Amino acid sequence: MLISFEGIDGCGKSTQISMLEEWCARKEIPAAVFREPGGTVLSEKIRDLLLDGRREMNPVTELLLFSAARSQLISEQVKPLLDAGRWVILDRFYDSTTAYQGFGRRSADLKEIDALNRLAAHNLEPDFTFYLKIGVEEASKRTSGREKDRMESSGEEFYRRVIRGFDQLSSRFPRFVTLDATQSPEAIHTQITTLLQEKPG
Ligand code: TYD
Repeated sequence: MLISFEGIDGCGKSTQISMLEEWCARKEIPAAVFREPGGTVLSEKIRDLLLDGRREMNPVTELLLFSAARSQLISEQVKPLLDAGRWVILDRFYDSTTAYQGFGRRSADLKEIDALNRLAAHNLEPDFTFYLKIGVEEASKRTSGREKDRMESSGEEFYRRVIRGFDQLSSRFPRFVTLDATQSPEAIHTQITTLLQEKPG
């Protein structure tokens, strides 16, 4: 089972992922969690380059670096774990590339991004993508105390386009489950685990 979580910064992904991880442990389901970009030595190094606010980065370079970090994580960790029957939970996956680089940055045409996503994901597709939907104002209230990384300094208009990207993806792919991220963490968690329990196998 491959599960991904998506949404803009401040949507509450991390809380939901820890709740799901604890739920898996209680059910004795062996599950591994990885964040993107990251999850391997090489991918964490690429993450540092991507989030370092001191550096200017060309949008195509950014697109390729997110994809490079992903390719390493999928081949080194995710594929072997899935082959061994483990569950894998991803804190972001290629839908973030479509939303942030495709819609937000407009780094490349969406068809090119789809092709790159397939390549970097080594053709893996999530069984479920939980999209925690929240507005820009509400999300920025939640993140206002934190220091902003390079991506988070991209401005409100950028985030509005990213949201449009996630919305479009969710209407395009049945694996997407859109959840209202302004609900209580417990209510969201219950919706997620209900769906996971219903899934055959
Ligand atoms: P992170 O600190 O993990 O943010 P969050 O906690 O909100 O997930 O940083 C990841 C940042 O990188 C986040 O702003 C989203 C962005 N990102 C992309 O722009 N494209 C991608 O393909 C991925 C995976 C992340």
